[in-house]
Amino acid sequence: MRTVTAIADWRSAAEELRTAGHSVALVPTMGALHAGHASLIEAARRDGHEVILTIFVNQRQFNDASDFERYPRTTEADLEVARAAGAAVVALPSAAEMWPSGTATTVHVEGLSENWEGADRPGHFDGMASVVTKLLTITGPCTAYFGEKDFQQLAIIRRLVADLGLPVTVVGAPIIRDHDGLALSSRNVRLSAQNRSAALAIPATVARAARGGTVSEIEAEACEILTAAGLTVSYAAVVNAATLAPYAAGDSGPARFIVAAIAGDVRLLDNGPTLMTGDTHAARH
Ligand code: PAF
Repeated sequence: MRTVTAIADWRSAAEELRTAGHSVALVPTMGALHAGHASLIEAARRDGHEVILTIFVNQRQFNDASDFERYPRTTEADLEVARAAGAAVVALPSAAEMWPSGTATTVHVEGLSENWEGADRPGHFDGMASVVTKLLTITGPCTAYFGEKDFQQLAIIRRLVADLGLPVTVVGAPIIRDHDGLALSSRNVRLSAQNRSAALAIPATVARAARGGTVSEIEAEACEILTAAGLTVSYAAVVNAATLAPYAAGDSGPARFIVAAIAGDVRLLDNGPTLMTGDTHAARH
């Protein structure tokens, strides 16, 4: 496994892989790698790609400076995870190279960026879309793997790739869960034992949504489950899986249940498929 820090070396590493006849996969991360990240590398390997993993804690997508400071940085352990999962190249660019002073370009994906995470974390998706566009542009033609846990992020990335005509195929990979059902996240290490146990209410709402119902039943029951566990609800909503707009009269495509809740001071996300039954649109609250 090769590690590169300079953007020029990362670009030529990708080029060398393609010249040698390999197809390249990109797995972008902010480090603090866990089994969810390893599953992305492994999926890309199974699909026949040579994998470039990037580790870059992108300051521009943190709307809270202390959240950026507290974000776990575990480079040595990350390199071991990357090696064990079969990455060919790990790119560890510096902030100065990714965002040279005077950087004036922001990528904004209108429509998909405003709701949900976008409403709770102003600027987050612009920072994310800007860095992902740069990671994809440096890597060049590739298949890029992202986890479905960040469902809105995935929708935004699919849209920016389509709108900008980037030579990239985007693959969304299933959420990887811990033995008790909690979706794996780099933030889980910050949960106290008590908050971790309370956080199990989050996958419980996803399991409830998977059984189907009306929008109002699913949303109301989710809020009850979360508040009974002592969590603060950011949102618990049934959305149109393609547009991420609240599921509404006239929608016929797949629905998705998305949830964000705070346990202690840790904000956690989850989501899953849901089926609309009965009077779908009754009493949206
Ligand atoms: O999901 C993440 O870890 C980040 O948002 C990403 C896609 C690596 C961009 O910084």
